[in-house]
Amino acid sequence: MNAPFSKIPNASPDPIFAIAQKAREAGPEAIDASVGVIIDDEGKPVVLESIRLAAALYAESLSKSDFNYPPLSGIPGYLDAITNLVLGNSDEPYARIATTGGTGANATNLRLIKALGYENIILPTPTWANHHQLINGSGLCVTEVNYLIDETPSIDAIISALNSDQPSAIYLQAGCHNPTGLDLSEDDWNKLAEALTDSPHCVLLDFAYQGFGKGIEEDAKPIQILKNASIPTLISWSASKNHCLYGLRTGAAFAITNNSDDIPMINRHYSMISRQLYSAAPTSGQLIVEILHNKFADQWRMELDELRSILRSRRESLKSKLPDDFQQSLDGHGLYARLPLSEEQILELQKRNVFMTMDGRINIAGVPTGRIGELGEKINSVI
Ligand SMILES: Cc1ncc(COP(=O)(O)O)c(C=O)c1O
Repeated sequence: MNAPFSKIPNASPDPIFAIAQKAREAGPEAIDASVGVIIDDEGKPVVLESIRLAAALYAESLSKSDFNYPPLSGIPGYLDAITNLVLGNSDEPYARIATTGGTGANATNLRLIKALGYENIILPTPTWANHHQLINGSGLCVTEVNYLIDETPSIDAIISALNSDQPSAIYLQAGCHNPTGLDLSEDDWNKLAEALTDSPHCVLLDFAYQGFGKGIEEDAKPIQILKNASIPTLISWSASKNHCLYGLRTGAAFAITNNSDDIPMINRHYSMISRQLYSAAPTSGQLIVEILHNKFADQWRMELDELRSILRSRRESLKSKLPDDFQQSLDGHGLYARLPLSEEQILELQKRNVFMTMDGRINIAGVPTGRIGELGEKINSVI
């Protein structure tokens, strides 16, 4: 009998979701510091009040909706609202498209990179595990370089990997680095912009955590630096964390080019890529974000500021409970830190119902404030 499915090659489970599954199976005792979701003090995903208000208006509008297909590029009012967040308030045109979350934005931009003729991605590691999978899926080659030198982010290894005979796309995270939480400095971004000026290279910027570093505008600083230096840059943005809209799969891809004549053709490529992947991105999240920025933007900004300070205090609190050799690993921003734990210690922590990825990455936002002390004690018990 012909049984093609039995010959299918082995596929590993996603490394982050596999740990989250173990945490779910462990029940309410579990401290789940795996998937990047922001959890409140009752152990539930945070839902922003401004999003609830926008979602209620969206729900009302559904009784009159014709449920027609959206434009392939997405809902214009949504794209205008987030263009302001990502690129500042201006009438300049940008190539852009709505995507299925930040993952869809990354997949779209990688396909655009390929269409632009790049073959090679310079990938500073460690990085978000899915970057490797996304690059594999796009058929591009990878050159891995060290993101950290002496446990501190450095642009130097990245710049030394550049070779003008081989145009490359440099895959960077704008901030709140996943998995380390440790970000490049403003000087690093300026140094990179200088190194890339008049070069054949471009930047692929993953921007999944706008607002969780220093602030909404402050976190977009790397984009301003690259744009002002006319460095071709593709941005992959996500509403999953800063609007707490994970399941609605809401994101966007942007291209910054210094030649505005290129914009219509890039937009055509964006639409074609979207059409090949899933036609158009889903609209519910886009419409909710559009309503939010028309009606509840100030409230959203306040709530995001508050979330940022909650994450900061959870980080400080955990830091205060751990010994000296853990301090530097918790110096960063955003949701993540990569603790200096061995695989044996991480497995030992699983037996004590603490779940993190096998590289020692913890999502601090996933641990309710009231359980940070318990997390600290359990980590201390295995080191
Ligand atoms: C660095 C990074 N990029 C992109 C994403 C994608 O987010 P989503 O597809 O959920 O919007 C994530 C999510 O964890 C991330 O950490």
